[in-house]
Amino acid sequence: MAFQVRIRQSDSPVAVEPGQTILAAALAQGVAYPHGCQSGNCGACKSRQYAGDIELAPYSEYALTAAERADGLILACRAMPWSDAEVAWLEADEVVVHPLRQMICRVTALEPATHDIRIVRLDILSGGPFAFSAGQYARVTFKGLPARDYSMANRPDQDGLEFHIRQLGGGTASVYAATQLKPGDRVAIEGPFGTSYLREQHTGPIVAIAGGSGLAPIKSIVETALARGMRQDIRLYFGVRDERDLYHEAPLRALAAAHDNFRMTPVLSEPSGPTTRRTGFVHRVVDAELGDVDGMKAYLAGPPPMVEAASMLLAGRGIRREDIHADAFYTEAEKTALGGTP
Ligand code: FES
Repeated sequence: MAFQVRIRQSDSPVAVEPGQTILAAALAQGVAYPHGCQSGNCGACKSRQYAGDIELAPYSEYALTAAERADGLILACRAMPWSDAEVAWLEADEVVVHPLRQMICRVTALEPATHDIRIVRLDILSGGPFAFSAGQYARVTFKGLPARDYSMANRPDQDGLEFHIRQLGGGTASVYAATQLKPGDRVAIEGPFGTSYLREQHTGPIVAIAGGSGLAPIKSIVETALARGMRQDIRLYFGVRDERDLYHEAPLRALAAAHDNFRMTPVLSEPSGPTTRRTGFVHRVVDAELGDVDGMKAYLAGPPPMVEAASMLLAGRGIRREDIHADAFYTEAEKTALGGTP
């Protein structure tokens, strides 16, 4: 016996057979439900569950974080009801759907950003065009190695792709990128993925917090917002350990000089010598400087402890959970330890 699922944006309920997903049933019954990969990887079908008993098949935690699940969000392409239910897909500004692409790219340039972060620039040879939203990521495969997720650091309207790859101890892909990758090499890219992207309809203030190579998606978000003429107050905090871990500072300073609504603040957590910079944990500096959070959105990217601490701080300061767009950079070992599906 089919269950009746009411979709708030649709006039009549959808009948979902046992074992069928809400997305599959909705599409079969002519409902234009937003979707992308249909496999729990992109987050495009993210929805809010209002009533009913709904089971989720395995999905990527990048498509739906544990915090979002706990907050009542589901992925319609993974959602199988066990009772009548009620859901709504997220509002238009919360959902972007770009075609999933599988591309072959070529390395055009490699630049050291810091002692352990390398900037990799690519041209798309085949499989494009590649549309994405600022803040999204792609699955990157270097020859013969397991795929790894990296955020695009360039603006979506720019030619080519830019990734910031930090060398991790024991990380085969990142060590390869740091030591063996060379101009002309082919790289396979699949994407885009992720829901921590710039909401371009938003007009309230923005606080962006990056840790280490988490600057990549945050750089894309900030540069895109300014290029699109977004006029609200935009504050970027860039947290690193020490002076040698800072990068891309001069271009960001130039951006701040050109846009009076944008400011950036580097924060050193473990300075090895005297410094005139802000010091301490980046979320504490944000806490001390954060003004009125009314209508504010936050974009966070970096190591999980930083992202978690900043998320808790911002939620505690009154920013709504759905206005905190967080991208924690788990290593493969951390993902396995958490039991997440890759
Ligand atoms: S369509 Fe559901 S996660 Fe991609």
